[in-house]
Amino acid sequence: MVVACQIFSFVFLSTNMLTPIKTILVPCIVLFSYVLCCSLGKDVQNQYRPDIPAIAKYFTTKCRYEEVNPYLLDDILTVNRSSVKLPFAECREVHLTAIIRHGTRYPTTRNVNKMRTLHNLILKVHKRDSWLRNITQWKMWYTDEMDGRLVHKGVLDQMHLAVRLSKFFPSLISKDKLQDGQIEFITSSKHRCVNSTISFYAGLAKQWNIEDETFDYQVNDTLMRFFESCTRFVESVERNQSAMAEMDKFKSSAEMRRVQEKVADRLQVPYSNITSDMAEAAFFLCSYELAIKNIISPWCDLLDAEDALVLEYANDLKQFWKRGYGQDINSKSSCVLFHDVFSRLDRAANEIRSGSNVTKAVTIQVGHAETLLPLLTLLGFFKDSTPLTSNNFASQGQRVFRTSRMLPYAANLVLVLSDCSGDLHLQALLNEKPIGFPGLDAQQGAPLYQDVRHHYRELLQGCDFEKECQLFPPKVVST
Ligand SMILES: *[C@@H]1O[C@H](CO)[C@@H](O)[C@H](O)[C@H]1NC(C)=O
Ligand SMILES: *[C@@H]1O[C@H](CO)[C@@H](O)[C@H](O)[C@H]1NC(C)=O
Ligand SMILES: *[C@@H]1O[C@H](CO)[C@@H](O)[C@H](O)[C@H]1NC(C)=O
Ligand SMILES: *[C@@H]1O[C@H](CO)[C@@H](O)[C@H](O)[C@H]1NC(C)=O
Ligand SMILES: *[C@@H]1O[C@H](CO)[C@@H](O)[C@H](O)[C@H]1NC(C)=O
Ligand SMILES: *[C@@H]1O[C@H](CO)[C@@H](O)[C@H](O)[C@H]1NC(C)=O
Ligand SMILES: *[C@@H]1O[C@H](CO)[C@@H](O)[C@H](O)[C@H]1NC(C)=O
Repeated sequence: MVVACQIFSFVFLSTNMLTPIKTILVPCIVLFSYVLCCSLGKDVQNQYRPDIPAIAKYFTTKCRYEEVNPYLLDDILTVNRSSVKLPFAECREVHLTAIIRHGTRYPTTRNVNKMRTLHNLILKVHKRDSWLRNITQWKMWYTDEMDGRLVHKGVLDQMHLAVRLSKFFPSLISKDKLQDGQIEFITSSKHRCVNSTISFYAGLAKQWNIEDETFDYQVNDTLMRFFESCTRFVESVERNQSAMAEMDKFKSSAEMRRVQEKVADRLQVPYSNITSDMAEAAFFLCSYELAIKNIISPWCDLLDAEDALVLEYANDLKQFWKRGYGQDINSKSSCVLFHDVFSRLDRAANEIRSGSNVTKAVTIQVGHAETLLPLLTLLGFFKDSTPLTSNNFASQGQRVFRTSRMLPYAANLVLVLSDCSGDLHLQALLNEKPIGFPGLDAQQGAPLYQDVRHHYRELLQGCDFEKECQLFPPKVVST
């Protein structure tokens, strides 16, 4: 209902040809739909902001964190404690592991090239309308050298996240524990991740007036970039074009063609001049200009919310088949991280049970969307009953597998172990909101840690990275 309402108002807002009838109609419809939308609840009020493109919530892995948690737009340090009851009043939080995606970054060289291709076409377009002139006057400022590095906003993403998590879990992420070496930092070797790790620490250091800006962190690609060393994944998915068949088919679907035609109409060029990569480039340009510069760029005018849903789906298809449920090896490649997480929880649990203090209170692990998604998949989160395919876009409108919600910049999975008068409970939060473990009743808050372990017992006993990642897994002998 809400989405329909927004599409409705956006379609009207984005129409450029102003006939006299529309001149009268448009303000009425805008007013009407605004009143309608607002009466649907305060969630929508948050979303109706003239300073944010209407398509911003469909940017998939290029979404701002603020689109997922809009209350942060009013105050970036807001913590919604009421959403997290951990798990009962008399509980004591004893261990926390956070797996965090790097903050906002520049486009990679590959995407800069796509953007350049679109921009070069625009330079040949006749400047008929004022909004078209705005696009043609836009200066290409993205360069190959930027190649995915963290931007200033990305530094702030991490500093603010650090402060919010310390407000969420003051007994764990505390000045004492930080200075006492009980907070461990592990990162992927990529510059944007190392910089994110340093920025996370800097957020804490600034808040607690810690002068010493140096701290220890470990670079561990085995853990945070496991997908690179999993041979079977690399050979059968990463370097295998037919593994992306569903995304490729969708890119030549009627839905995608319609988007290309609408972009061509808006630019007043022949349909054949606009490829799906160009439509995607417009989507990227709108997203980067918002995320990096906090502006609504004229590129956003090339797409409406209907188009954005199609482009969002194309990207979700890619993530689904390359990192998610599409292939078993995608999630299995994260076995090493899965075992690492549980061994930290086990160690803390054993220390508590034997009456000693927890030696490592907090682990902050910084990686990529490609780190988080296979792990979330392995744990069974965001699984729809039907797979995402090239021909079920229409029926997947309500899917839970939505990277725009799951994997914005600075996306984070936080696991918190609590001691509740002798019973250990585990709470999971994704992007600062509690998520129930699939298959476990989490109505009462966090489930018992032993129930979580029982639920994942097969993975805990198996899920061997070396074995799963062999190019030719040993054949099962059938009799
Ligand atoms: C905080 O969380 C509660 C419970 O989930 C929710 O009802 C409320 O709307 C949230 N507040 C904000 C400002 O998002
Ligand atoms: C073009 O850009 C100018 C200056 O940023 C802005 O005031 C104007 O509204 C834009 N025109 C359209 C049609 O978007
Ligand atoms: C991190 O990124 C920011 C923004 O691009 C940059 O100014 C800063 O120098 C980087 N920090 C480090 C330690 O590389
Ligand atoms: C990286 O993490 C893995 C898994 O926990 C561990 O076995 C390995 O020793 C670590 N490597 C380094 C260099 O710390
Ligand atoms: C490539 O992917 C296709 C489709 O998933 C699969 O059938 C094929 O076996 C894969 N090729 C390799 C070399 O793994
Ligand atoms: C559109 O494509 C045609 C044929 O390929 C080409 O001649 C023309 O210059 C293109 N128009 C623009 C604006 O790029
Ligand atoms: C646990 O930590 C507290 C406070 O830091 C300390 O007083 C106590 O002696 C420690 N207990 C053990 C068993 O090490």
